[in-house]
Amino acid sequence: MPWNPEQYHKFQSERATPFYDLLALVDARPNLKAVDLGCGTGELTSQLAERLPNSDVTGLDSSPEMLTKAASFSRGGLVFQAGDLSALSGDWDLIFSNAALQWSGNHAALIPQLFARLNPGGQFAVQIPSNHNHISHQIYRETAEEEKFKSVLRGFQRIAPVLNIDQYAQLLFMCGAENIIVFEKIYAHVMQDSDAVVEWISGTALVPYFERLGALQGEFVDSIREKMRAAMPGTPVFYPFRRILFSARKPA
Ligand SMILES: C[S@@+](CC[C@H](N)C(=O)[O-])C[C@H]1O[C@@H](n2cnc3c(N)ncnc32)[C@H](O)[C@@H]1O
Repeated sequence: MPWNPEQYHKFQSERATPFYDLLALVDARPNLKAVDLGCGTGELTSQLAERLPNSDVTGLDSSPEMLTKAASFSRGGLVFQAGDLSALSGDWDLIFSNAALQWSGNHAALIPQLFARLNPGGQFAVQIPSNHNHISHQIYRETAEEEKFKSVLRGFQRIAPVLNIDQYAQLLFMCGAENIIVFEKIYAHVMQDSDAVVEWISGTALVPYFERLGALQGEFVDSIREKMRAAMPGTPVFYPFRRILFSARKPA
């Protein structure tokens, strides 16, 4: 999926806030072997690495565009690698992931599979957006159903694989995890107008649609923008962004 790092970075400070909430859940110890799944452009992985003295941190991502950006953050103790997070190999003291697991399906299988890669005493710390029922998402899904777009998309819709917080807690318990913390939080963004919300989702949720729409991409966004102006009129607009955070430890 062709990510656009510049588009993604337009709301960098808003996107960083949940990362700091996730980082606060990490038991920052030295000498860890840690991986950041779906590391993106690497700035946040670099901040994670700073919190883990004498550790070996790997940023893993499947996007060549994101990894090209991330390369500039490589240093002793911090490397970036291409790879699919759902096929993670190796043994880790910390498996960390900020806003990336939602791009991989079947969380009922994925969570135990990733947890199994932890060393005894290792920590799993994850943040996943759970705003897939926000009006902006409803509108782009409806737009994708319009014949003009549907035929080019060949009926493609991206259905979020995100579970609810009870299910993540249950899955972690079933893995034998200790110190289970799971919560959902609203990040209260005040945006200039609904166009800004469309700009935000253009850097993430719409990416798989853009990939398939080719030359129709502009028309698709225009149509979403128009519906969003009716759904979220005025300025500023409130964009409550729902996210799930969890942390758990494998018994030592
Ligand atoms: C929304 S970005 C988050 C980036 C970074 N963690 C951050 O917080 O800024 C999601 C990232 O997950 C990566 N990604 C999506 N699916 C992936 C997969 N199956 N394996 C590895 N990386 C993946 C994307 O390439 C993208 O860089």
